[in-house]
Amino acid sequence: MKKVFVNLLVCVMVIIAFAGCSRKSEKASTKNDNKIVIGFAQIGAESGWRTAETSSIKDTCANDPDVELKFSDAQQKQENQIKAIRNFIAQKVDVIAFSPVVESGWETVLTEAKDAGIPVILVDRGIEVEDESLYTTFIGSDFVEEGKNAAKFLIDHFGEDKTVNIVELQGTVGASAATDRKKGFEQGIESEEKYTIIESQTAEFTRSKGKEVMEAFLKSQGDKIDVLYAHNDDMALGAIQAIEEYGLVPGKDIIIVSIDGVKDAFVAIKDGKLNCTVECNPLLGPQLVQAAKDLVDGKTLERWIKSNEDVYYGQKAIDAFDIRQY
Ligand code: AHR
Repeated sequence: MKKVFVNLLVCVMVIIAFAGCSRKSEKASTKNDNKIVIGFAQIGAESGWRTAETSSIKDTCANDPDVELKFSDAQQKQENQIKAIRNFIAQKVDVIAFSPVVESGWETVLTEAKDAGIPVILVDRGIEVEDESLYTTFIGSDFVEEGKNAAKFLIDHFGEDKTVNIVELQGTVGASAATDRKKGFEQGIESEEKYTIIESQTAEFTRSKGKEVMEAFLKSQGDKIDVLYAHNDDMALGAIQAIEEYGLVPGKDIIIVSIDGVKDAFVAIKDGKLNCTVECNPLLGPQLVQAAKDLVDGKTLERWIKSNEDVYYGQKAIDAFDIRQY
């Protein structure tokens, strides 16, 4: 009788243990299933701005218990971004997001995402596609407006009567950030007969190329250069080094305006080496996560979730320095 009782007790204990176990694993898998999985294909790490954007997206996802991030770094190559998107499709993520390195060439892979029923969000850069339904929304800045703001700063600085020779450092060829910042700037100086872009070349949004290309500009144009317009701060910061090495004073002999508003640009403004930075907000993590949640909830998103941005120069830049987040 005692043996029967012991056997019974063991059986009951085993059953309880199994029940507990399976409930635990059921809970764990349900919790995992309930997470929204976002696949994000980043361009690379070409600038301080890009690093800040990556951190914003990673941190926002890491701090949100309802979200899981699958992150991929394309190292500036479109083919790597396409591969990453295909992987996300194969992994059946809930939402695909990416910052397109260039504007063209996305139709095939985005059609694959659409056929798989996975919504796509563009983060910070736009694309050119005939079928607008290949993406749900674009989260980011108005690059044309940024170019116009850079031009406005120069017109306010020099006025209309002075001859102004400008050299331009462009971003990555084919990237919306480069194309639109060029377009906006050209529109901004259109009415100024004495403003001329005497040199314009890509420096791929990097500090090292910014230095290299500025050296070439200085070699060919030397003291004729009144202004440097750079499509991002990193290229301007590289160019500042080139100008100093050439023996001119950046911020005085050559007036410099760039775009992004990274902390290093504020340091350069404080030091009198950079004259103006047009802000472009990289802290897009919270908007991305909210947009992904809304999509999963079946909501329709605005076509363009626009960033609010400012222009910094002089005392305004110095006052803002301490509160800059990136
Ligand atoms: O797409 C945004 C641009 O890309 C930023 O201005 C630049 O710094 C980055 O690399």
